[in-house]
Amino acid sequence: MKILPTTPDHYPGIATLYNSVDPELHLSASDFIEGDRLRDPKFKTQRWVAIEKDEVIGAGYFTQSNWFAHPQKFMIWVGVHPKHQKGGIGSALYETIMQGLQQFDPLAIRTRTTEDRPQSIRFLKKRSFQEVIRDVPSELNVQTFDPTHFAGLEDRFRDNGIEIKTLSELENDPERNQKLYDLDWEISLSVPGDLAAGIGRRGLEKYVEYAITGPSALPEGFFVATKGEEFIGLSHLLLSEKNVSLYQGLTGVKPQYRHQGIGLAMKIRAIAYAQSSGYVLIKAENDAKNKPMLAMNEKIGYVRKPALITFEKQWQLTEK
Ligand SMILES: CC(C)(COP(=O)(O)OP(=O)(O)OC[C@H]1O[C@@H](n2cnc3c(N)ncnc32)[C@H](O)[C@@H]1OP(=O)(O)O)[C@@H](O)C(=O)NCCC(=O)NCCS
Repeated sequence: MKILPTTPDHYPGIATLYNSVDPELHLSASDFIEGDRLRDPKFKTQRWVAIEKDEVIGAGYFTQSNWFAHPQKFMIWVGVHPKHQKGGIGSALYETIMQGLQQFDPLAIRTRTTEDRPQSIRFLKKRSFQEVIRDVPSELNVQTFDPTHFAGLEDRFRDNGIEIKTLSELENDPERNQKLYDLDWEISLSVPGDLAAGIGRRGLEKYVEYAITGPSALPEGFFVATKGEEFIGLSHLLLSEKNVSLYQGLTGVKPQYRHQGIGLAMKIRAIAYAQSSGYVLIKAENDAKNKPMLAMNEKIGYVRKPALITFEKQWQLTEK
């Protein structure tokens, strides 16, 4: 077994490895190529593969993200093919990542796993990682969703001049992208839970690529609540797996317009879009402390999956 820095030639093998570790992922080499293209160049990233007889049997990386925004903070991940687990490959990959990080004088590192993977949790706890955030993933079966339960929602606020529009319907507003960028940031900072404290703001261009023009963006599945010229709420879907699943991106309403059914109405519009486009699932992920959104998702019929736990290791306390 050799551990090597990854090149794009390894991507098909890495995709197969990821899918063996989590069969729900359905990744392909192009997802990794796309990930490289979309990543902000300011984020330090390095991947490694564990290779045996030309087969990728393990992989690991460190990277940085807007969700844990600091030049000395990193996200890491290690995965080993189920057939090759418990043979020291995960530990070897982990050590390689930690050595690779030394040069950046890290302050803290994070990684995520689900609550139903006790062996991963043991691996992390043994290495001084502690739980810092718990997220609730959930899924909605779009095909069996019955929209008639939610009919007439928009009548509640239409008389107040509030309308829900798609991105295309707002095409003539020259300020559209800037307004969405600003609203996304305002809402992101107000999301209950532990993530908002550590997030950084991506540039306008990166936001537009992520949510509006990029390969995962769906302009007809992006809904904006407007009052005159003002954008007061948004809810957008992103492509997860073509023709199969979508991912629920940010949903939010400016604080002064909450509790009028606007958030729910935008999400119901998004589900109608998914239904008419033939998708099967919408996946969502919310901080376990975000009671309003969890209550809304439950009302809609989202079914909870095992919790996703973010673990953090304070590097300086343990390594220096
Ligand atoms: C979550 C959020 C979008 C709700 O928007 P809203 O327009 O106020 O919500 P609605 O009026 O449409 O509420 C619909 C349902 O959601 C649930 N809900 C909304 N706010 C709630 C609250 N404060 N407490 C408990 N349940 C709440 C209820 O089930 C409600 O139905 P009900 O009115 O019959 O009780 C809004 O609170 C928000 O912008 N929060 C910050 C952003 C965020 O956390 N987004 C989620 C991360 S993606």
